[in-house]
Amino acid sequence: MTEDHSPALTRTPLTYGMVGGGPGGFIGQVHRQALAMDGLAQLTAGFFARDETRCRETALDLRVPQDRIYSSAQEMADKEAEREDRIDFVAVVTPNHVHYPICKAFLQRGFHVVCDKPLTLEIHEAEDLAELAEKHGLMFGVTHAYNGYPMVKQARAMVAAGELGELRYINGEYAQDWLWQRLELTEHKQAGWRLDPKRTGRASTLGDIGTHLDNLATYITGLTPTRLLARVEALVPGRVLDDTATVMLEYEGGVSGLFWLSQAAVGHDNGLKLRVMGEKASLEWSQEAPDTLIIKEPGGPSRTVSRARGPMYPEATVYSRFPSGHPEGYLECFANTYKAFCSTLIKRKAGLEPNAADLDFPGVEAGIKGVRFIHRCVDSSERGAAWVDFAGD
Ligand SMILES: NC(=O)c1ccc[n+]([C@@H]2O[C@H](COP(=O)([O-])OP(=O)(O)OC[C@H]3O[C@@H](n4cnc5c(N)ncnc54)[C@H](O)[C@@H]3O)[C@@H](O)[C@H]2O)c1
Repeated sequence: MTEDHSPALTRTPLTYGMVGGGPGGFIGQVHRQALAMDGLAQLTAGFFARDETRCRETALDLRVPQDRIYSSAQEMADKEAEREDRIDFVAVVTPNHVHYPICKAFLQRGFHVVCDKPLTLEIHEAEDLAELAEKHGLMFGVTHAYNGYPMVKQARAMVAAGELGELRYINGEYAQDWLWQRLELTEHKQAGWRLDPKRTGRASTLGDIGTHLDNLATYITGLTPTRLLARVEALVPGRVLDDTATVMLEYEGGVSGLFWLSQAAVGHDNGLKLRVMGEKASLEWSQEAPDTLIIKEPGGPSRTVSRARGPMYPEATVYSRFPSGHPEGYLECFANTYKAFCSTLIKRKAGLEPNAADLDFPGVEAGIKGVRFIHRCVDSSERGAAWVDFAGD
């Protein structure tokens, strides 16, 4: 983290390349703005869109040098690998089906990788990426960026410190409505590939938002599911993939869980909420009010803990940027994910040991678990909502 001021850490920041994130793309610009927030990495190369003109236009808008605009991910990996001033890492922000070959190409050329979720279509592909990263000694981040909110880190620290006592139940929901009608039949950029099984995988909404819920529950509680039962369905008639799922879970230690997630939940924006119930207290966090955490104890009113107002755990404080009452939001949580990733990489390059705060970003294991979550839910649903073990291929 940036409290360290040794000369090795004050050199020019890292450089990165981007694959995806062309005109009209959603998450590419979020990655770029988040990375710009702390000035730790400079965009230096890119293959932003398959259409050459659109790729070039994006690159020029973003001040990417002409000789570092590429016409395929493979070309970018090959040519960057030959340069003395090669990029330090690549950010992959394309539709899901090409995450695997693109990440693989960059890992094989020795680049660190950050990829958006869901990491791959198949579990074995995600495991292959983990093996490649391990084999080449490379870092791999997966942008389950909701972990980056300071009050999520506060919740995790409270659970770890035993403030809730033994955990009993995890209840999560993620409600959006942007797929409340068949947007996939229009020219809508994001809906088109998300509801095409070839480009999104075995499930749509489960991968798009279910993986975030699964990741958040595990991040806050430290627990992994042991088995689950799911009903995966489309509320909107005619839709070929899911827009809704209901999932019952059993976690390590016998803790129970229940998730509901939908992108056809009319009237909901980005309603990601998690409640964790313990024997002594419960906590509740909502993405749409991310600077607060609600604590409930028996026999008294609930308490609202606001970011930076009163003591917080150091793990949360280190990622809190402004005084209380100055809202931090989506960009800051993404920026925190990148701050951790880049701080770790900068220290590794300088031959220094990253600290626990530096290492606090979701890695390839979180990516594998997300892909497994999708497959297990679909497996269960296809068997008439049977219990299925979480582990395995
Ligand atoms: N972490 C999050 O909170 C979050 C939020 C939204 C999306 N995502 C993930 O980010 C990824 C992209 O989603 P999006 O909503 O930005 O999609 P999008 O359709 O808005 O953008 C995708 C971009 O990739 C480009 N592209 C498409 N195929 C390509 C290829 N083969 N090679 C290079 N570029 C290609 C497109 O031109 C476009 O610019 C998905 O995996 C999605 O699940 C994550």
